[in-house]
Amino acid sequence: MKQLWTGRFSKQIDKKTNDFNSSISFDSRMFKEDIDGSIAHATMLGKCGIITDEDCKKIVEGLKQIKDEIINGKLEIDMTAEDIHTFIEGELTSRIGDAGKRLHTARSRNDQVALDIRLYLKKECDEVVNQIKELVNVLADKAEEYSQTVMPGYTHLQRAQPIVFGHHLLAYAEMFLRDISRIEDAKNRMNYSPLGSGALAGTTYPIDRAYSAELMGFAGYTNNSLDGVSDRDFCIELSSALSLVMVHLSRFSEEIIMWCSWEFKFIELDDAFSTGSSIMPQKKNPDIAELVRGKSGRVFGDLMTLLTVMKGIPLAYNKDMQEDKEAVFDAIDTVKMCLTAFIPMIDTMTVLPQNMRKAAAGGFINATDCADFLVSKGLPFRDAYKATGELVAICIEKGLTLETLPVEEYKKVCDLFDDGVYEAINLEKCVNDRTPVGAPSPSNVKNQAKRIKDIVK
Ligand code: ARG
Repeated sequence: MKQLWTGRFSKQIDKKTNDFNSSISFDSRMFKEDIDGSIAHATMLGKCGIITDEDCKKIVEGLKQIKDEIINGKLEIDMTAEDIHTFIEGELTSRIGDAGKRLHTARSRNDQVALDIRLYLKKECDEVVNQIKELVNVLADKAEEYSQTVMPGYTHLQRAQPIVFGHHLLAYAEMFLRDISRIEDAKNRMNYSPLGSGALAGTTYPIDRAYSAELMGFAGYTNNSLDGVSDRDFCIELSSALSLVMVHLSRFSEEIIMWCSWEFKFIELDDAFSTGSSIMPQKKNPDIAELVRGKSGRVFGDLMTLLTVMKGIPLAYNKDMQEDKEAVFDAIDTVKMCLTAFIPMIDTMTVLPQNMRKAAAGGFINATDCADFLVSKGLPFRDAYKATGELVAICIEKGLTLETLPVEEYKKVCDLFDDGVYEAINLEKCVNDRTPVGAPSPSNVKNQAKRIKDIVK
């Protein structure tokens, strides 16, 4: 397909160079947005008397027809076209003649492509936010179900203090809620139409930018024509927000992988979301979680690509900016794909509360509560801490736990101890008493799960 700019050239572009220069292989996915943007532009041109009502009608009808035909497979996109904008305009002109050639009045591909990406990414933001909401909802459901399931909380991957499994899951829900707000925030900032910025310097035609922006559902229009065509902050912001989604999914995946191991066995993944080994018949591997963890690298790479593409280019449009699309599309595709596999994997996993309880019983995770018992008897915390440390050393030496250590041993270390200590270090009590806001008591976890579900409803 012929380029839009052949007028001043005496030769065709070199074939291989055309492939190099072309973006249709990756921008054809924006055909709907390109057409919707052109319909709004033509409607605005008609309303402002820049083209006739008759031409406007022909253009709008022609574009609608092209869109329908691409959707239902009747019209194939010509992959030799320079880009999707060239293809749609060429196809329109071949169908309706001169009216089609009037579509590009008061417009450039520079504001057109800036517009198309915004329209496309706005829609993608909604889709990915919906997926994250679904994940948050699954986490909140599971948190309610396991609001009483005691497990060890860790620092340095060492058993530290008792929590419940629901609380652990809701920590991830909080991260994903922040992700939602970041993506929505990025969407709000991309919600301004650059159409009318022209190539860089706006236009002399009496266009109505507010009208075309409104037709396309934007909150308004961009205020500087140079910025309108050369801003890709919104691609970077979105990729950055998506990178954080991947950080969260990757950390979560890492825990899933650990929890599935025989060393932990806190959960078991459903067969439908696990894989086997070609040689070791016993293996059941958490490949999905590993792949999510691995794919985080791509999305960080996409962010780095965008930052690097943009950092050194002068105003306004430069062809470097064509590199924006593959990066930001890959970031969004990857996150959506990861979520598509990750959500049902979490939803169908089997939780093994007994194993969590066993691990919780083993690592002296109630030592802080033991010290707090002495504090309740009037001992300063630092002294209580030291006494409890001695008790832990005695337990390790004798192969006992704080629960099984006789009270006489306690009294030898500190005479403030009595039988009440056993109740104070009971793991269920330890979590039940953690009631201040944000702490893991089962009642807090249930309330938080409800609050979170209301947010994503
Ligand atoms: N395919 C181009 C891109 O994606 C469209 C804009 C072309 N503009 C230009 N001045 N060559 O960036």
